[in-house]
Amino acid sequence: MKLQIQKRNRQITNADVFIASCFEDEIFSHETTYLNEMTGGLLAKLVKKENFTGKADQTVSLFFQKSLKQHVRILLVGLGKQEEVQEESVRQVAATAVQMVRSWQGKHVVSDFFGMRSKKFTLDACAKAMAEGLWLGTYDFAKYKSSLKEKKFFPETWTFMTEHKTDIKLASKGLSLGEMYADATIFARNLVNEPAQHMRPADLVAVTKAIVAASSKTISMRVFNRAQLEKKGAGGILGVARGSDHEPFLVHLVYKPLHAKKRMVLVGKAVTFDSGGISLKPSDAMTTMKIDMAGAAAVLGVFSVLPDLELNVEIHGIFAACENMPSGKAIVPGDIVRIMNGKTVEVLNTDAEGRVTLADALTYALQQKPDVMIDLATLTGACVVALGEEVAGMMSNDRTLCDELKKAADRAGERVWELPLEPGYKKLLHSEVADLKNIAGRYGGAVTAGLFLQEFVEEVPWAHLDIAGPAFAEKPLNSYTKYGASGFGTRTILEYIRSM
Ligand code: BES
Ligand code: ZN
Ligand code: ZN
Repeated sequence: MKLQIQKRNRQITNADVFIASCFEDEIFSHETTYLNEMTGGLLAKLVKKENFTGKADQTVSLFFQKSLKQHVRILLVGLGKQEEVQEESVRQVAATAVQMVRSWQGKHVVSDFFGMRSKKFTLDACAKAMAEGLWLGTYDFAKYKSSLKEKKFFPETWTFMTEHKTDIKLASKGLSLGEMYADATIFARNLVNEPAQHMRPADLVAVTKAIVAASSKTISMRVFNRAQLEKKGAGGILGVARGSDHEPFLVHLVYKPLHAKKRMVLVGKAVTFDSGGISLKPSDAMTTMKIDMAGAAAVLGVFSVLPDLELNVEIHGIFAACENMPSGKAIVPGDIVRIMNGKTVEVLNTDAEGRVTLADALTYALQQKPDVMIDLATLTGACVVALGEEVAGMMSNDRTLCDELKKAADRAGERVWELPLEPGYKKLLHSEVADLKNIAGRYGGAVTAGLFLQEFVEEVPWAHLDIAGPAFAEKPLNSYTKYGASGFGTRTILEYIRSM
């Protein structure tokens, strides 16, 4: 599907689908009137008959014989009230539209930039949102399906019409940015959807190597294996990895532009499968635990497009890849591990493994002397209890960072909400025998996990995103996030980085 832009007046003779967007109760604009005329007034009749009012995600379509040889489809899509339209509405309606086009096997689509008349966003932001909606809305993870032929159909071209020739440059900038964001999100989705049997720690290392190889030398990496981690004293990751037959790795990516103004570190949780370890999860809680590396997947998604973004920020990506399994060699409740910064942790529940591996990853991250640090982790079920499956928990020691990250998430169409790093709860992590324990009682589990991580970030401005809920959609989240991995965090981080 090639996305392209063209000034209005030129006819597209081979188009077989024409799409126009409209606001609620403002159906007939320039655009839609043109389509109505093309159908000799049929469209207006259908709009009336089907009670189409232009509500968000409402559609009306008609099949129509344009000439003896040519059939076309006309599609009207509603965006909701003009004053309420956002980039996110555009994303969602674009996904709905492309799904309809695919079901008709439409080959050449002509459409407007949805909602552009509203003047609520700039043309490049609109084009970006459309490209994201179109690509994410056609995503599926079908590599293990033996037959899914009809689903593979894609339109050949999608041509956007603009009013002025001068708009084309801005719009194509938006489109290619949106395609990059979608690529990065899909990259993350694919890693998370891959079954744990094919996504071991070593596989994450291989994926990282592929990103570096494709980066024309703009990204470099270091990998630390078990022996090197022992030398570093990374007892957290080594402790968690002890029960697994698969070797753990600490991975460090660096993107270094020539004139970087700032240095940021992204840290991702990378537990390739979380069985709970000796504190074994019940079967039902384990079925989706291949997603426990979704934090690292988002970081890798971001890195997969960094070379194309032309940024002036130095970005480090760090993750401690391991698998959490029970076995005769596994870490057991009561064991004490020593983190790379010397702190000791009493592991009372081997299922609270993420924070133990992140303690080492964050310590290593601090050694890079970052100006800002963000971690993404499928860290706690408690966060899902608090905020549900669609909203990530955000905790931070820095007001500005927290506010900017929230704004970035809003622009990206990802939901995050702040939880407090309540100082009074620190006492819940007190251990009788070590510096800290890794669990803190029944209540406020997302917050106490955040407080645990805070013990390893010192004074660096840092934000923690607990993505346990939205990383994976067990039922469709919206028109462009169907069942499976969402790639959550990828676009928020890209938005944040671009605003730095
Ligand atoms: N990976 C899980 C958290 C999780 C739960 C992610 C649901 C995605 C969906 C994490 O390692 C975990 O098991 N946390 C425990 C912590 C508890 C033992 C303190 C939890 O949330 O139950
Ligand atoms: Zn766990
Ligand atoms: Zn986990």
